[in-house]
Amino acid sequence: MLSRLGNTSTGGGGGDHPVINVMLVDDNADTREYIKKFLAFEEREFRVVGAAGNGRDALRIAMEVKPDIIIMDINMPDMSGIDVTSQLTKLLPSAAVIMMSVQSDPNYLRKAMQAGARNFLNKPVQADELFSTIRDVYKGHEPFRQSQFMPNLTVDVKAPGARTTNSAGTTIHPGHVVIVYSPQGGSGTTTVSTNLAAGLMRKGIKVLLIDADLQFGDVGVFLKLQSQSTLAELAPKVNDLDIEFFDSVVSTHESGLKVLLGPQRPELADEIEAVPDSVARIIERIATDYDFIVVDTRCHLDNLLLALTDISARIVLVATPTLTGVKNAKFVLDLFDRMDYPAEKIVFALNKVDEDRSKNRGTIATESIEKYLHRSVDARIPNIEAPILAAVNKGVPVVVTQRDHKQSPGRELMDLADYVYAQLNEDSLDEVESESAKSKKSGLGLRLGKN
Ligand SMILES: Nc1ncnc2c1ncn2[C@@H]1O[C@H](COP(=O)(O)OP(=O)(O)OP(=O)(O)O)[C@@H](O)[C@H]1O
Ligand SMILES: [Mg+2]
Repeated sequence: MLSRLGNTSTGGGGGDHPVINVMLVDDNADTREYIKKFLAFEEREFRVVGAAGNGRDALRIAMEVKPDIIIMDINMPDMSGIDVTSQLTKLLPSAAVIMMSVQSDPNYLRKAMQAGARNFLNKPVQADELFSTIRDVYKGHEPFRQSQFMPNLTVDVKAPGARTTNSAGTTIHPGHVVIVYSPQGGSGTTTVSTNLAAGLMRKGIKVLLIDADLQFGDVGVFLKLQSQSTLAELAPKVNDLDIEFFDSVVSTHESGLKVLLGPQRPELADEIEAVPDSVARIIERIATDYDFIVVDTRCHLDNLLLALTDISARIVLVATPTLTGVKNAKFVLDLFDRMDYPAEKIVFALNKVDEDRSKNRGTIATESIEKYLHRSVDARIPNIEAPILAAVNKGVPVVVTQRDHKQSPGRELMDLADYVYAQLNEDSLDEVESESAKSKKSGLGLRLGKN
């Protein structure tokens, strides 16, 4: 077991003062620049160690640079500063947030403080007020930077997903998000996502499956589940969503898999779609309560889907080995490439593969598909329908009952789950190791972990 200790300011040139590491979060680049300039006047005391223009980057960069102070804008387009703050106070308690806004509305102030902000600055920020607020907050936050008050995050490097536990007994899971998507209806997205989610389940691993096919989602049918607490009820409450409450109201499959179903009626999808990142925001809110979050999607390539692929660790792209299936897959792969998603983010799964191509239905050979797409096929799932239909009738995915069965796609679907599991586990361990290497290099002591 390796323990993760809090950040300590490294000093260095600050005279009597410690050097205070500051991070700036504002979607307005001018504001970031002008605060940076103010802080440069007192460079022996303040050092800007990071900056972000949106909430998601703020979370990622803060976890990397571990600042002492974060100056956070309240209004940002993707996540509000309040949401980012409430996540950061859990994930990085050594950092103190100072909220910044043009509004001096007491309501905002109250919400910011409830989220864990330590103080408040009005825009436009004045230099003197900025310096004194940072100094006060830094001083007041001292106990949280000391190791004995840190959450004592521990990482078992052998544990899948490198999960962490804090001293309050709360387990922080890695929350790997896996989106299952096909640009073509009927390719087997729901078959793959339900089996993938069930296949990722193993001892001590917590998996959530979300049905984001908002109008005609089939996850409830595939797993024989119903629920009063669906995306339709939970999406409007996203800002106040409590993790424990969430876990208690989502459905639980007999395998232990947690499932958040889509709306009970297609017309209820409208409200969720009106906020294209609504499902992604729910996931961000509750991610640390799960090891894996698998999301079933519909074939629309829209902003709702892209908000999900943006936050995902892996996208399982499902295609059938047909002309239209491969053409559409190429379009999507090209798009992901233009969006700068790394190639390894995409797991390419061919579904309904005819092993005996002499009896084929005009399907294309895997090697030809790989050549055309300039990439390898990561999973080949045979075209055998009877066991899949039987599994749907029982409400239990084939990977649960038929993972070693030759006449069932259960084996290949389980191989896909093992592949995704191993890849994401490796990602977590890489992060643990690179953190370890960094801390050894900088001599800052043992500071490890994936949060
Ligand atoms: N490997 C397979 N072999 C044979 N049949 C399959 C296979 N995978 C899926 N099917 C069948 O294909 C049909 C569509 O599957 P599924 O509902 O999983 O696809 P989908 O992409 O989610 O569809 P939709 O676009 O309606 O959401 C189902 O009848 C299912 O039984
Ligand atoms: Mg489906």
